[in-house]
Amino acid sequence: VGGVTINRDDIVREDDPANNVPDSVFTKIGLQLHNRENHPLGILKNEIHSYFDERFGGEFKKFDDLSPIVSVKANFDDVLVPADHVSRRMNDTYYVNSETVLRCHTSAHQAEKLREGHTHFLVTGDVYRRDAIDATHYPVFHQMEGFRVFTKEDWEAAGVDGTTHASNDLKATLEGLAERLFGKVEMRWVDTYFPFTDPSYELEIFYQDKWLEVLGCGVVEQEILNKNGRAGTVGWAFGLGLERLAMVLFSIPDIRLFWSSDQRFTGQFKAGQRTKFKSFSKFPPCYKDISFWISDKFSENNLCEVVRGIAGDLVEEVVLIDEFENKKKGLTSHCYRIAYRSMERSLTDEEINDLQVGVWIAVEYTFSRGNRS
Ligand code: PHE
Repeated sequence: VGGVTINRDDIVREDDPANNVPDSVFTKIGLQLHNRENHPLGILKNEIHSYFDERFGGEFKKFDDLSPIVSVKANFDDVLVPADHVSRRMNDTYYVNSETVLRCHTSAHQAEKLREGHTHFLVTGDVYRRDAIDATHYPVFHQMEGFRVFTKEDWEAAGVDGTTHASNDLKATLEGLAERLFGKVEMRWVDTYFPFTDPSYELEIFYQDKWLEVLGCGVVEQEILNKNGRAGTVGWAFGLGLERLAMVLFSIPDIRLFWSSDQRFTGQFKAGQRTKFKSFSKFPPCYKDISFWISDKFSENNLCEVVRGIAGDLVEEVVLIDEFENKKKGLTSHCYRIAYRSMERSLTDEEINDLQVGVWIAVEYTFSRGNRS
């Protein structure tokens, strides 16, 4: 990655309690789907790059080969994520060790690029988050970060204060981007919160009868500029999820498809072309239920990771279908329904049963506190 060789044993350390990177995630590092020019994520990235080049005449520097293994400082502290913020928990983020994580957003590179002297940049890369399993969530996905710095001359020439100037430019730039990607659509700006921007917004567009969240953005917190060599300037930043947009633009129904090496998927996309995915034969799902007493080691993210560790991309969804509390014993049991489905072939009963036994054993091993369900 970025010209660096990564050793599995440095990243997946079963002996380090501060490490929670499973093999299934480690094997995704370095695949760089966003750098494949005939892949929907690469096609989308290049289209956004073209938009910026046309609008800003090549002023924005592009980075798409930065290592996803970053310091806790870069991922959280440098972008002012509070010490007690939920995103820092081991339940939400992949830790390589207590000081190193798999970046959970491309904002991890804001401070570093500022310190290197950049004032206009786009950073695209794979990001990693522990999460539930369903058609739109996968532990690895791709983001693009945008960042622009303004000087006093810029906002004085416009006759407004710095924050207003940055905010106006941000909105105009991103409305232009949304129009480029989605055509003339209804858009709305929703106020939100990010630790690294103020004010902060989400852009939503009305597309295919629904409001779709396109990106998060805002005017950069002054402290980030001050601490990284740009005191006296004002900036904007945005971050967008490439899968979320590509699923809509290319009609891709399941986020796992982006990782498919099946010719029937990869063969459908060509650089520079925005085509609609035609689903090849849909294989039937197979449902299996599992119920167990939950212990304090339990979280839904942990469960999803255990299931993914056994069944990999054959898991389509894990949903809670029933909950039962034994008040006397002070115990709660959960029943989850696991949907298994391959994008590429029909699964046999035997292999699903084997997987389910494997999942059952792994769940018992991981969460049990001596209770049998
Ligand atoms: N990092 C934010 C996220 O992952 C997105 C964002 C980037 C928001 C830059 C504001 C500015 O959700």
